[in-house]
Amino acid sequence: MPVSPERVRALHKYDLRVLMSLERLMQRYEWVPLDVLKASTKLSDSELEYRLQNLIEWNMVRYDAVPYPGYALIFGGYDAVALHTLTKKGTVTALGSLLGVGKESEVYEALGLGPVVLKFHHVGQQSFQAVRKERGYMPEAGHCPWIFASARSAEQEFAALQRLSPEVSVPLPIDRSRHVVVMSQIPGVNLNRCTLDKPRPVLDEILENVGRAYAKGIIHGDLSEYNVMVDESQVWLIDWPQWIETDHPNADVILRRDIENVLRFFRRKYRIDYPTEEAVGVVVR
Ligand SMILES: Nc1ncnc2c1ncn2[C@@H]1O[C@H](COP(=O)(O)OP(=O)(O)O)[C@@H](O)[C@H]1O
Ligand SMILES: [Mg+2]
Repeated sequence: MPVSPERVRALHKYDLRVLMSLERLMQRYEWVPLDVLKASTKLSDSELEYRLQNLIEWNMVRYDAVPYPGYALIFGGYDAVALHTLTKKGTVTALGSLLGVGKESEVYEALGLGPVVLKFHHVGQQSFQAVRKERGYMPEAGHCPWIFASARSAEQEFAALQRLSPEVSVPLPIDRSRHVVVMSQIPGVNLNRCTLDKPRPVLDEILENVGRAYAKGIIHGDLSEYNVMVDESQVWLIDWPQWIETDHPNADVILRRDIENVLRFFRRKYRIDYPTEEAVGVVVR
């Protein structure tokens, strides 16, 4: 769970002030010194101390005495300010259950104007935790660089969805706050988790959409059976943060890798032999 919506709803305006000050200050400080935070929040010593204690307990803020006493926003706190913003705007009215956890994201069902999903980008957290295991002195996961890297990742994904929809079958982009993308909920299942009665038209439809994206100057960059969703009659391409422009120096290699991943899946699971060159020809018209 990134952060409980009840907890976000219950945040006091001073809690939010501390979180948002930290967010701003972390562009300049890896660990924000107490006096800097105090000047920014304009809270009394005791009020600020009380707020910080709670935020630390709720896993939103971290304190470290090394290299100097300071505070940092961690993912729980970043999740909280993003959810707060989206709720205030009315983009999200209720957070539902977890739909999927990837390497660097958590995806939740939610309610907005209709069924939507919230994708929380958590870049680098896992790799960072792996590094931390070996080096005990490393700070807890989640401070500054990962937070801003995650926001960039969400920004990238949102930009792709805006350029692609509605011509390419992707989730409709609805809103974004920081590292959280809000998009329409796809009424299908991941391609790797189902068995198709008629696989060939689905493969054609995937290539057709890869081609439409290509015509708009975009290559997915991480396409596979895991990032395609399907129902009986439609396919959707999801998970776009790593997309590249078609004039990128490695565009050819990356496009072929995308296409080959899909073809390999259909070859292995459905015994469909579709030559790579033919597929590339369909995509790059
Ligand atoms: N718009 C959506 N509608 C429904 N389910 C989704 C949507 N986006 C993602 N999911 C689910 O969440 C999973 C993880 O999302 P994805 O964008 O692929 O991120 P990751 O980088 O973690 O793989 C997907 O495999 C899919 O099952
Ligand atoms: Mg994925």
